[in-house]
Amino acid sequence: MRSLLFLQACLAAVGVSASNVDLEENIYDAQAYKPRQLMTRQIRPAAPVSGPRIGGPVWKPQIGQKVQVILDRRVAQLTQFSRVTPEQADIWDLDLFDTTKQTIDVLHANGKRVICYLSVGGSESWRPDFLTIPKSDLGDVMPKWKGERYLNLRSPTVWRLMQDRIKMAYDKGCDGIDPDNVDPFNDDFERGGGFTPPLTEADSVDYLRNLSAEAHYYGMAVGMKNAESILANVTDFIEFAVNEECATYSTDEDGCMLYVPFLAKGKPVFHFEYVNVNSPSLFSRGAPSIQSVYKNWANLSSADILSYYCLQNNFGFPYLPNSTVGAMFSTAVKKLDLGGWVMYCDGTYAETPTAQTVGGPDRELDPGWRGKESQRGGKGKSGGLEMTSPTGPQAGGSPSGGLLGWLTGGGRDS
Ligand SMILES: *[C@@H]1O[C@H](CO)[C@@H](O)[C@H](O)[C@H]1NC(C)=O
Ligand SMILES: *[C@@H]1O[C@H](CO)[C@@H](O)[C@H](O)[C@H]1NC(C)=O
Ligand SMILES: *[C@@H]1O[C@H](CO)[C@@H](O)[C@H](O)[C@H]1NC(C)=O
Ligand SMILES: *[C@@H]1O[C@H](CO)[C@@H](O)[C@H](O)[C@H]1NC(C)=O
Repeated sequence: MRSLLFLQACLAAVGVSASNVDLEENIYDAQAYKPRQLMTRQIRPAAPVSGPRIGGPVWKPQIGQKVQVILDRRVAQLTQFSRVTPEQADIWDLDLFDTTKQTIDVLHANGKRVICYLSVGGSESWRPDFLTIPKSDLGDVMPKWKGERYLNLRSPTVWRLMQDRIKMAYDKGCDGIDPDNVDPFNDDFERGGGFTPPLTEADSVDYLRNLSAEAHYYGMAVGMKNAESILANVTDFIEFAVNEECATYSTDEDGCMLYVPFLAKGKPVFHFEYVNVNSPSLFSRGAPSIQSVYKNWANLSSADILSYYCLQNNFGFPYLPNSTVGAMFSTAVKKLDLGGWVMYCDGTYAETPTAQTVGGPDRELDPGWRGKESQRGGKGKSGGLEMTSPTGPQAGGSPSGGLLGWLTGGGRDS
């Protein structure tokens, strides 16, 4: 469950058309949108860093650092002669299994920090250690994620497996871990992952406390992805948060405001929003245009989408932070396939050279990995706007009401 899109029911917004709104003139001043390729020469080379060590201080990422995330492809093997693109990305969130120690060493030599992604609450049938998981520890199938089932977070066997994986992260030199699927309590069917008794929020908090202690032992940082309902319970023992689409979902109480107390403690939020990208042709020198992956927002301009996703303009939404707080988020605008392409809030964009994953999802080659729907699972909610993702026909889930609904006068109850 690498990228999660929250299901929300709010059918009222369906059919709201962008053409109803004169966005630029009547509603707000569109931010200037001047995307430009990263100028690598302007960036001062960062001093090399070394990886974690047992007993050493736990690495603490800082608010304001820029992040690149690549999960459905992997970074093409780096060597000491490789140029790291984008050079301005301070922190790299990469798959634990698919990333080599050599690549991590090169990133460290370039002053970068590496967070290693691993699923701690979902089985992934293509992983080399998959067969060591007893059947009794596998719960419900994740309907939208091929090859993944929930894991029993209470199982000592699962815990030992995770200890091995965390050790692997240490051995590869990961500065931190990005544990995914920590929230089976929030599954699609409200079955607590399909275990008896169902997994609860308390189980997730206990499990995260363990993961954190284990990673800290190795000097590595720990984050939590989404699972906002337990954020306050784990804030004291994690170093960063990972969020998908809190701006998109800021039209209701699930939005980015939930992270304000976390940021206030000096802990960064690595925040990803998803777009479709229309790149200029190879022979023209134009900039790419970006478009919301949600059909009903597809007519918003690139400038509007960027300023909304980057929290530079809260458009009056009560659940979107103001631009001062918005600037504290480490936002990266990504394509849904979580490959090498990234855009930052200053409009710069770049594409990290990537290669195929080892056995795992590679949506560039096999869009079917995403399954029929590509929505963030959430409490059985459904309906809403349709997506326009190139990775497949996705019906269902969407932000409620949404930006257009709001701008056209529906307000947040639309
Ligand atoms: C977007 O604009 C096109 C062309 O004007 C129009 O056909 C389409 O209905 C619009 N879509 C939305 C969701 O407003
Ligand atoms: C999380 O913290 C809230 C607020 O302190 C508390 O009400 C709730 O019971 C806690 N949940 C868990 C699972 O610890
Ligand atoms: C937490 O760690 C302890 C000690 O290693 C272990 O016995 C326990 O099963 C773990 N609990 C969870 C929920 O992973
Ligand atoms: C922005 O929001 C923060 C937190 O809600 C608040 O403390 C601050 O005063 C606000 N700043 C402005 C300029 O509105």
